Amino acid sequence: MPIDTIDTQRLRLRAFQCNDWQAVYDYTSDPAVMVYIPEGPFTPERAKAFVTDNMGEHARAVAVLLKTVNRLIGHMMFHPWFVPQTNEIGWVFHGAYHGHGYATEAAVALVHYGFDALHLHRIIATCQPQNVASWRVMEKLGMRREAHFRQCIRRPENQWWDEYFYALLEEEWFKANGT
Ligand SMILES: CC(C)(COP(=O)(O)OP(=O)(O)OC[C@H]1O[C@@H](n2cnc3c(N)ncnc32)[C@H](O)[C@@H]1OP(=O)(O)O)[C@@H](O)C(=O)NCCC(=O)NCCS
Repeated sequence: MPIDTIDTQRLRLRAFQCNDWQAVYDYTSDPAVMVYIPEGPFTPERAKAFVTDNMGEHARAVAVLLKTVNRLIGHMMFHPWFVPQTNEIGWVFHGAYHGHGYATEAAVALVHYGFDALHLHRIIATCQPQNVASWRVMEKLGMRREAHFRQCIRRPENQWWDEYFYALLEEEWFKANGT
């Protein structure tokens, strides 16, 4: 990315640090949280590797902390996606913190950062149609549903997942947000 720190009203988005892995493991080991994450629940080793891989200049994710309690409650993915000036955005939060608008608050901050500081042209996001909370966040951001791919992701036991594909252009964001 790399992102140092972005503060919102209730959250702090910051670069991962080595000792974050336990907090990451707390929610990434929860099968209910990881239902729509293709690799499934993390082991402690996978959580450690995820944190290590996302430190430094090649980071693809940032930690999200709840400022009042200084607790790491989730992470946001935000990284280049195939073509110049396009990033993919994504989100995973601890189940105890769902439904408070935190993913949307973190996403709005990253989208601002992407268009204002990184001068991105386009931000995309994907999810499964059954993952209503995820595509609701996309729609609250003002992203448009550009595609519904049918049975495009192979799953175990001869299952296939559909996928929604959303996008937001810089000009759409600035038009909607008045800057
Ligand atoms: C997706 C996720 C990050 C959303 O986090 P969050 O902080 O709860 O999101 P927000 O509170 O900002 O917004 C969620 C929206 O979805 C809505 N929602 C949640 N579950 C819903 C459901 N089953 N049916 C309809 N709407 C639902 C909420 O009401 C809210 O919309 P609203 O503000 O219009 O009421 C969280 O659910 C999560 O971590 N899920 C597991 C990981 C995951 O699937 N990540 C995405 C992979 S593509």
